[in-house]
Amino acid sequence: MLFAYSNAVSIVENMALAATDMGVGACHIWGAVLASLDDEDLVASLGLPEGFIPLCGLSVGKTDEVYKLRDADLSRIATDYLD
Ligand SMILES: Cc1cc2nc3c(=O)[nH]c(=O)nc-3n(C[C@H](O)[C@H](O)[C@H](O)COP(=O)(O)O)c2cc1C
Repeated sequence: MLFAYSNAVSIVENMALAATDMGVGACHIWGAVLASLDDEDLVASLGLPEGFIPLCGLSVGKTDEVYKLRDADLSRIATDYLD
């Protein structure tokens, strides 16, 4: 089951990258997705296949923000390099 989470997030991340490339605003949305799990009618309205649940989401829309390169703080994600 865990691979389903990985697949879904990989898809959403690629959607976010594509949106950014197109100058479209995008934001990963987890809070609303989590909250929706408590609302059976809302989940049903999504029309997902039987047995599926919402795992992640991406809001997209027009934005006035101009994306530009920025320095990433690499210390935010601990990384071990194996020899
Ligand atoms: C897995 C994930 C879930 C997120 N869920 C939400 C959300 O529910 N609501 C929201 O406003 N932003 C959400 N975000 C966006 C973050 O709040 C933040 O804007 C984004 O990660 C960029 O952060 P940074 O500029 O510090 O790199 C989420 C981001 C990630 C990676």
